[in-house]
Amino acid sequence: MDVEVRDADAALLAALSADPPDAVFPLLHGAAGEDGAIRDVLELVGLPYVGATPGACRVAWDKPTAKAVVRAAGLLTPDSVALPKEIFHDLGAAAVLDRIVARLGLPLFVKPTRGGSALGAGPVREAAELPAAMVGCFAYGDTALIERFISGTEIAVSVIEEENGPQPLPPVEIVPAGGRYDYAARYEAGSTELIIPARLPLSTAATVAEAATTAHRALGLRDLSRTDLIVDASGTVHFLEVNVAPGMTETSLLPIALTAAHRDLGTVSRDLLARAVSRETTRSNP
Ligand SMILES: Nc1ncnc2c1ncn2[C@@H]1O[C@H](COP(=O)(O)OP(=O)(O)OP(=O)(O)O)[C@@H](O)[C@H]1O
Ligand SMILES: [Mg+2]
Repeated sequence: MDVEVRDADAALLAALSADPPDAVFPLLHGAAGEDGAIRDVLELVGLPYVGATPGACRVAWDKPTAKAVVRAAGLLTPDSVALPKEIFHDLGAAAVLDRIVARLGLPLFVKPTRGGSALGAGPVREAAELPAAMVGCFAYGDTALIERFISGTEIAVSVIEEENGPQPLPPVEIVPAGGRYDYAARYEAGSTELIIPARLPLSTAATVAEAATTAHRALGLRDLSRTDLIVDASGTVHFLEVNVAPGMTETSLLPIALTAAHRDLGTVSRDLLARAVSRETTRSNP
């Protein structure tokens, strides 16, 4: 199989039309890769691609929307409120924040509704910390998601779709050295320990695996996804978010889970590309 790596830059469309590939594997992590836009462009060009459709990406990318969908599918996700910057401006920040604390309690966790890599995200232990957390959040997005803080073990479950449907990979337990899985803990070598499979009782391991496949199906995702969860001290599983373009570097969670499952990233990628091509063939010759 011939593979070419291309950046999403001004040369991309010309290259795709001059020498159209059989399929594209979008590997952009973060907004560009997850908000559906790049897949919209691939649809415009008429090329098959690996992964979820633009519409499904948009739903998954917007955390409050994704939470509502998975909650309707039976998963637990922290109680929350999502409010745009203007509401605080128009109604008075202090009054709105008081209501939030009164309703959701403390501690809280604040993050942009659309974002990644924990940027603009942080815990709030006391009401006095909330205004600063909101300012930090609004530096990265226009709408804030304020959730109940869940303490427990962070788990990521990747899902790969195969002939027999979405298959969960072994759960990865994330243990940041500094206790917080923030931006530095994600990208500085050695600052986070990943334990695979996660040290969970068998029944909890089954629950997190099922939660990830439920999220994948309920959100109408395709080919691959990674669901981020927290398991609290009582073993209850809380859905945080799902990623339609999970990190794919050699230290990222999905590739590490594949290795633990004795699967080869190259072979899995080839199979996903083949699925994308055959979807397209079915569509053009129904
Ligand atoms: N309700 C919560 N309670 C406790 N910690 C939380 C909560 N929500 C998020 N976190 C922490 O913040 C991190 C980032 O949150 P989340 O995974 O929702 O957003 P993200 O920035 O999109 O992440 P990613 O880089 O995985 O795309 C989580 O990995 C977790 O450590
Ligand atoms: Mg996450």
